[in-house]
Amino acid sequence: MKILVVGGGGREHALAWKIAQSPLVETVFCAPGNPGIAHLAKCVDIAADNIDALLDFARDEVIDLTVVGPEIPLTLGIVDRFQAAGLDIFGPNQAAAQIEGSKGFSKRLMEKYGIPTAAYASFTDRDQAVAYIEEQGAPIVVKADGLAAGKGVIVATSVEQAIGAVDDIMLDKVFGAAGASVVIEEFMDGEEASFFAFTDGTNILPLASSQDHKRIFDNDEGPNTGGMGAYSPAPVVTDDLYGEIVETIVKPTIAGMAKDGCPYSGILYVGLMIKDGKPRVVEFNARFGDPEAQPLLMRMKSDIVPVLQACARKELRQEAIDWYDTAAVCVVMASGGYPGSYDKGFEITGLEDVMAMDDVVVFHAGTSLQDGRVVNAGCRVLGVTGMGESVAAAIAKAYDGVAKIRWDGAQFRKDIGRKALNRG
Ligand code: AMP
Ligand code: GLY
Repeated sequence: MKILVVGGGGREHALAWKIAQSPLVETVFCAPGNPGIAHLAKCVDIAADNIDALLDFARDEVIDLTVVGPEIPLTLGIVDRFQAAGLDIFGPNQAAAQIEGSKGFSKRLMEKYGIPTAAYASFTDRDQAVAYIEEQGAPIVVKADGLAAGKGVIVATSVEQAIGAVDDIMLDKVFGAAGASVVIEEFMDGEEASFFAFTDGTNILPLASSQDHKRIFDNDEGPNTGGMGAYSPAPVVTDDLYGEIVETIVKPTIAGMAKDGCPYSGILYVGLMIKDGKPRVVEFNARFGDPEAQPLLMRMKSDIVPVLQACARKELRQEAIDWYDTAAVCVVMASGGYPGSYDKGFEITGLEDVMAMDDVVVFHAGTSLQDGRVVNAGCRVLGVTGMGESVAAAIAKAYDGVAKIRWDGAQFRKDIGRKALNRG
C-alpha cells in the first residue's frame, strides 16, 4: 500500500513511524513532513491545509489511504473532498469535525445525550455573557467557540478576569472569528487524562490510557501549552474507570453523532477531568493527541494500518488492540520562551547519539534543515520518547535521551510521568 500522512508535527512523525512498520505498506508519504519524518517517509512539500494540492497528489500517486493528523484540514472538509473523489481517507468529515471545531456543538451534543461534562451556557451577546458570569461567580471558564490553536480557553479565578476574557474574545476579537460566540463553563476540579477510540461511525476500538502535561512548568504551573509531555498507561484510569469512560462517554457520543445524521469516523479524542473516580468531558478533539500519540503508538503492538483502513471504509470489526506490556513516556523539548515568542534557527546537536540508543525514539515536531543542519523551527521542537518495563524505567530512558540533545534556549519539564509514580 501507499499511504499519505497529512501534517508535519510530532504526532505525524509517530504515525508515519508506526505505519512504516506495517508489512502491508510499501511507501509512506508525508505532507509536509519534517526532517525527522524524512528518515522513514518521502516528504512532499504541500501544506496540511492545501486540500486541492493534497487531492491532486493523492490522485497522481494513486494513494491507497490518507491519514490526517491535525484538525485544520478536517474542519476544512478534506475528508469530504477525498471521499467524493473515491479515495480512502482516515478522519471525520467536516460536519463531524465540528465536535472539535465548535465548543457549542460539542456541549449541545453532550447535553442531548446525557454525557457527563461541566454545566455551561453559550452566548453571542457580550452583556448577557457578563451577566451570566456575575450570577455564577468564580472560578469559571471562558471559551471562544471556534478553533483558537489551543489558546481559546481561559480558566478565570475571578469574575473580573472572566469578564476581561469575554471582552478580549468578543470585543477585541483576539481569536478572530472563533470568538463570535463564547461558551461559559463551570470550573471542574480534578486530574486530567486523555482517552482515544478508533471508530468507523458505529463500532469502536478504544486505545490504552494516557495523560498529557498541559502547563509549561513543573508541578503544572504557568500557562497552558499544546502539551509538554505524555505517558501511557495512565494509572489514574483504573480498569473500572476505563469501562465507565467507554460506556458513559465514548459509546453514547458515537451513537449520538450517528443519530443526529453526522456519523463520526476516525479517532475520537476525549479530554477528561477525573474527580473522585468519576470522569467528565473537558473537550472532544477530532484527531490524535500530540504528544499523546507518541507514547501510545510506541506501545502499540498491533499493526495500525488495518485499523485505519477499516475506520475509513466503515468496516471496523477488530475488538482489541494488542499493547506491549511496557510504559512509554514522551518528554517534549520546546524552544526557549514558548508558549510566548521564541527564537528559531539554533542548531540542534546530539540527535544521532539518541538514534543509537535502544528503546528511545526522537519524534520531530518543530525542526527544519538549514544548510544540512537540523535547527529549531517551531514552538514544540522534539518529543523524546522512551519505553521501559515500568513508568520509572521509561522516564529514565526518555530523560537519558533528553540529556544528549542541546540547542540554545531549549526548555523541557523535569517532572513528566511523576503523577503516575505518585500513584504507585
Ligand atoms: P480545552 O481547549 O477545552 O481542552 O481546554 C484547555 C484546558 O483548559 C484543558 O485541558 C483544561 O486544563 C482547562 N479547562 C477547560 N475547561 C475546563 C473546565 N470546565 N474546568 C477546568 N479546567 C478546564
Ligand atoms: N495534547 C493536547 C492536544 O493534542 O490537543
